[in-house]
Amino acid sequence: VKLRLRRLPVRRLAGPRRLASPIVNLMRFLGDPVRTLLDLPRYGDVVGLARGDASVICAFGAAHTRTVLSDPARFHHFAETPIALPPDSAAARLGSLNLTSQNGEVHRARRRALLPVFERAALASYRDAMAAEISRRPIVPGTTLDVFGAMTDLASAIAIRCLFGLEDQANRELGALGGEYLQRLVSPSTIVAAFDLPGLPFRRFLRVAEELERRVRELVAAGRDRGGRDVLSMLASQRELDDDEVIAQVALFFLAGYETTACTIAWTLFLLAQHPHELDLVAAQLAERLHGRIPEVDDLAGLDALDRVVHESMRLLPAAPLCFLRRAQTAFQLGDHALPEGALVITSALTAHRDPVRFAEPRRFAPARWRDLAPGPYEYLPFGAGPRRCIGAGFAAQAIRMVLATMLQRVRPVVADGTTVSRRVRGIVLGVRRDVAMRLEHPQATTRPARIRGDVHALVELGATVVA
Ligand code: HEM
Repeated sequence: VKLRLRRLPVRRLAGPRRLASPIVNLMRFLGDPVRTLLDLPRYGDVVGLARGDASVICAFGAAHTRTVLSDPARFHHFAETPIALPPDSAAARLGSLNLTSQNGEVHRARRRALLPVFERAALASYRDAMAAEISRRPIVPGTTLDVFGAMTDLASAIAIRCLFGLEDQANRELGALGGEYLQRLVSPSTIVAAFDLPGLPFRRFLRVAEELERRVRELVAAGRDRGGRDVLSMLASQRELDDDEVIAQVALFFLAGYETTACTIAWTLFLLAQHPHELDLVAAQLAERLHGRIPEVDDLAGLDALDRVVHESMRLLPAAPLCFLRRAQTAFQLGDHALPEGALVITSALTAHRDPVRFAEPRRFAPARWRDLAPGPYEYLPFGAGPRRCIGAGFAAQAIRMVLATMLQRVRPVVADGTTVSRRVRGIVLGVRRDVAMRLEHPQATTRPARIRGDVHALVELGATVVA
């Protein structure tokens, strides 16, 4: 195990009871970070995952969040993998040559090189590809969707088309491969027995990484000549990055982007199904402004009701409830706490978004609050904040709005009484343990909120009878 986590005793650091070692505390945290993040603020705004030990700490509140996220030189992205990967493997290349594992000057330079593919003009150029994928889905009254699965399928198709310029069958295969890579990357069965031996999940993980890298390498080669308007072709022809890095960076965009986007859309549809009045308000504005069309980029700025719904959904159920862990490169101070070099620091949108001073009645879904709410960048941070804020935020924002604006003109989402909605965090993405069946009704149908089972009630008030 390569993960360097030694005990860092700090007297008077509050937190829950210490388990056998800091790694056990960290593993337990990663198993259900949301449970811990909801619980820890009662200990204070600087809290150890284990009492009296600073090896992993949570920093809450806008001031501490700013201290950590605005200073990437002192707080590096935590890029070590918990397992030793064979040095010349595809898994090692994919894991190390991407923005999330780069720090310091390298990170700054790479961000600069990558930014043009997410700038306004580039985003506008992805609009037609997004619209084409949305059009391919039958969004019609009378059907029932497994909403998280269906949105994952759509968001991955959008990502693959915009990032790689791929459609149809090739698109599906790459999506499946990316999903498997991501799942195996974070699976305990990969980590527990990290030996390259026949039959072990770790070997399968190495093979999946090879296959993913091989497929993307072929696409890079094609992209150099193709001159397409997808992200890969743009980066491949720009020649600022070598092939290995273009592959790793674009693979990361795909992996970082599709599940987060899918969950955001699915959670928003769920919240709207439970709040018919809010659904009426947003649907009315969409119908009035778009007359049934899939929006153009210029339409998006005028859809303020949709903006409020998306802001509020990402406040309550942020697809990334915490930022990537940071590792302190020097000793540092948070408020009254003197903390040591080497500490891992967690900051959290989920916790920030529940501050009752900033967001009155924080568990209520109330899009109208955004009419006169202007939180600071470290108070509302569904995409993180500071120099490492999500580079794909504009891309995601556009995809989310285009999908929702189209769907909500054509159908009305409804969930059945007794449906169970419980969270599951995979990697760092907030999704559901079991998919949620959503019925699509006629847009003019009268609908009501359902009685929902499951632990989603810990996160949001659902405006209907609560069933434990
Ligand atoms: C709703 C969708 C998304 C959410 C909620 C989300 C959220 C986040 C968050 C919280 C961070 C971490 C910030 C930090 O550690 O300080 C991040 C980083 C990142 N995201 Fe996203 N993201 C989304 C979509 C996307 C998309 C579509 C892409 C690419 C096409 C993308 C690419 C990245 C990359 C490359 C980073 C690392 C940035 C860096 O370290 O400089 N994300 N995202």
